[in-house]
Amino acid sequence: MATVLITGASAGIGRATAVRLAARGHYVIATGRNAAALEQIKRTAKGKVDTLILDVTSPGSVDAALRDVGGLTGQNGLDVLINNAGYALAGPLETTSDADLKAQFETNVFGPMRMIRAFLPGMRERRRGRIINISSVVGRLALPFFGPYNATKHAIEAFSDALRNELRLFGVEVVLIEPGAINTGFGELERKSLEVHAADGAPYAEQIKKVMAFQKDLHPNAAKPEVAAKAIVHAVEAKRPRARYVVPFLPNRAFIALAEFLPTEASDAVIQSITGLRRVRP
Ligand SMILES: NC(=O)c1ccc[n+]([C@@H]2O[C@H](COP(=O)([O-])OP(=O)(O)OC[C@H]3O[C@@H](n4cnc5c(N)ncnc54)[C@H](OP(=O)(O)O)[C@@H]3O)[C@@H](O)[C@H]2O)c1
Repeated sequence: MATVLITGASAGIGRATAVRLAARGHYVIATGRNAAALEQIKRTAKGKVDTLILDVTSPGSVDAALRDVGGLTGQNGLDVLINNAGYALAGPLETTSDADLKAQFETNVFGPMRMIRAFLPGMRERRRGRIINISSVVGRLALPFFGPYNATKHAIEAFSDALRNELRLFGVEVVLIEPGAINTGFGELERKSLEVHAADGAPYAEQIKKVMAFQKDLHPNAAKPEVAAKAIVHAVEAKRPRARYVVPFLPNRAFIALAEFLPTEASDAVIQSITGLRRVRP
């Protein structure tokens, strides 16, 4: 059984994964910013769960978590680190501020990298460990008006692909999970970030309203977080995990294939049609 730390365990996919891992007998260190939500997981999950307050954007918080994990594990460290914490900043790239973009990268990219730099030395010295990064289908393709978030997931994909081959010789594996839409609180935060660009008179208001109509039904009708949790737990337990898992496999693998194999002009036309942004010829 593995000792697993997961970030962003207070809600959604992280929470479902923590609960499932504990039920399967793993020792789970569930971390996040919301103490009450973490405490509730500890109380209700079946299995061994400890909790730590951890904000991945704070170097001090990550250092403290490293020290606390040493204490909790008798200095044995982690078998598996799951970088799950994240949120989606959507909106037009032209009107997205530096501050908002930096905050998005701070949580979704620098946060996981900070966690990896903290916990990797122990794994490398023990010649054993697994890092699971929660990316997205939009780490493999990019949608109009979701550019800020999509760029962070492209960054995580590139970092993970480089790391996987840097760490192979040290026995540390790197796995990407690429969820499509999942029904969590994530969709609501994403919608709020779009909404601010839909005000009357805003330069992209009309287009943003179309994209909001596309986004509105995406998450409520999507797979439950347990579906993503099942794939993540598989990635924890598999003897030889694959480099990446798309979840749910369909239709998301087909979207990635469209982006990878169609000429860009053709995949652009598909994306414009799906998002309601097809150009009307004058
Ligand atoms: N839902 C989807 O459709 C979808 C699709 C593809 C990929 N993903 C990815 O899956 C992961 C989990 O998302 P979710 O759907 O489960 O969203 P969620 O329900 O909103 O949960 C996000 C979690 O991340 C935590 N978090 C955010 N910022 C943090 C920070 N600075 N430090 C620590 N924790 C932080 C949140 O904590 P608080 O409660 O404190 O805010 C929460 O526990 C994310 O990386 C997301 O990009 C989601």
